[in-house]
Amino acid sequence: MMNTLHSLEKDNNKINTLPILLRNPRILLIGGGKVALQKAKVMVKNGIDFQIISENYLDDFANIDVPKLAKSIEISDFVGYKIIINATGNKKVEKLLDKTKLKFNILLNTVDVPEKCDFYFSALLNYGKLKIAVSSDGASPMISKVVRNRIKEIIPPEIKEQIAKEADLRKQNKINITRTRIEASRLFGHVALVGAGPGDPELLTLKAYKLIRNAEVILHDHLVSNEILALAKSSAKIINCGKPHGSKTLSQLDINSRMVFYVNQGRRVVRLKGGDPFVFGRLVEETEYLIKNNIKFEIVPGITSSISGAGNAAIPVTARDVSNGFSVVSGCLKGNQFNMNWIELLKIPKHTTVVLMGLKKVKQIVSESIARGVRKNLPVAIISNATRDDQTEIITTLIDLENAAKNAPTPAIIVFGEVVNLREKLSNFIDSEKSEVLSKFG
Ligand SMILES: C[S@@+](CC[C@H](N)C(=O)[O-])C[C@H]1O[C@@H](n2cnc3c(N)ncnc32)[C@H](O)[C@@H]1O
Repeated sequence: MMNTLHSLEKDNNKINTLPILLRNPRILLIGGGKVALQKAKVMVKNGIDFQIISENYLDDFANIDVPKLAKSIEISDFVGYKIIINATGNKKVEKLLDKTKLKFNILLNTVDVPEKCDFYFSALLNYGKLKIAVSSDGASPMISKVVRNRIKEIIPPEIKEQIAKEADLRKQNKINITRTRIEASRLFGHVALVGAGPGDPELLTLKAYKLIRNAEVILHDHLVSNEILALAKSSAKIINCGKPHGSKTLSQLDINSRMVFYVNQGRRVVRLKGGDPFVFGRLVEETEYLIKNNIKFEIVPGITSSISGAGNAAIPVTARDVSNGFSVVSGCLKGNQFNMNWIELLKIPKHTTVVLMGLKKVKQIVSESIARGVRKNLPVAIISNATRDDQTEIITTLIDLENAAKNAPTPAIIVFGEVVNLREKLSNFIDSEKSEVLSKFG
């Protein structure tokens, strides 16, 4: 059967959702009470031009800076308006509008009376020229608001300037779709260069924890423990960029360009590094690449293994009368070369030296130190897998270091100095099991 115009008109309760923008519509708000005040506030907030008619007004209307007429409503007041919002709750006004709205081609919204509405308000987000409207066809304005507020959380405020910039470029006919897409997506993306601490997930900073939990992409090095990676969302893309002992899973360029690739897609990217990212973490190379690509980033410091590794083995890096300071050095230079620049530090009295990436170089460390006159009985500790369940400690002296290191697991730090001798006394009183139990109850 063919549809006639008449049969189409029959379903007059159907709501058609038209995403439309109106140019200079004349809008009248009727009412001076609480409901009208709320509508007026929303319209003012969204930059909508309108006028108000009401016999009486609540005092708060004094703050609503739009034209107001104080009079009882009559038919002639509707002339010239295309949209009328009746917020009076008054049956007489309702009847008057029913009678005249067709005659004057008025679109009517009777607040809180859905069946007397030709249109509904939607929950609106306004970012300059970008508007986002959420509607439930009048079913639940509250749900619309909740959804709108969630959307608001993910819209970057900079979108307003971006839209204005694009509008300008459009006027000049300088549209570049790829550039526009990347620049707009980037506003939603985020790169955080995050320290994961030495391994124990409870030694993550709160910031690191939150970023890991919210990350869409995690690029991690081989020092990041599985327990920490397990905190990520199941939907997160986890990329192992690890470089154990010089072997390469991904090249530095590959890592850098992946970070840029994902942030250009508007992803929340976490570059996760063991310990503190600025301690032998090659972070500078990565930040330089991001800067070159004009990408902003966040840096989240982490607990470095160099200090916490010693501390967790009951070796304080400083202690009054025993060590007045400490140095953190790397046993390796670029290209896996032995770094001997720090050996003289071992001769400084009351000083602690923590060596990272030194386990493979103990032979050279010992021979170079002895050759330079470092005392042979200098206390040394090798702490492997610090703060993890499989942490081990080997306590020795310089002369026996090579032998002692033979079976030490990696990763490991090597601590040189008298502070190593404090360990025995302290470790007898360390009660980490109890703290684990207590933290479970916390
Ligand atoms: C490339 S460096 C990175 C250091 C890291 N950014 C930090 O602040 O701990 C890697 C070296 O850190 C040390 N290291 C890292 N985590 C460790 C851990 N849990 N236990 C012992 N040593 C660790 C080892 O010496 C390892 O070879």
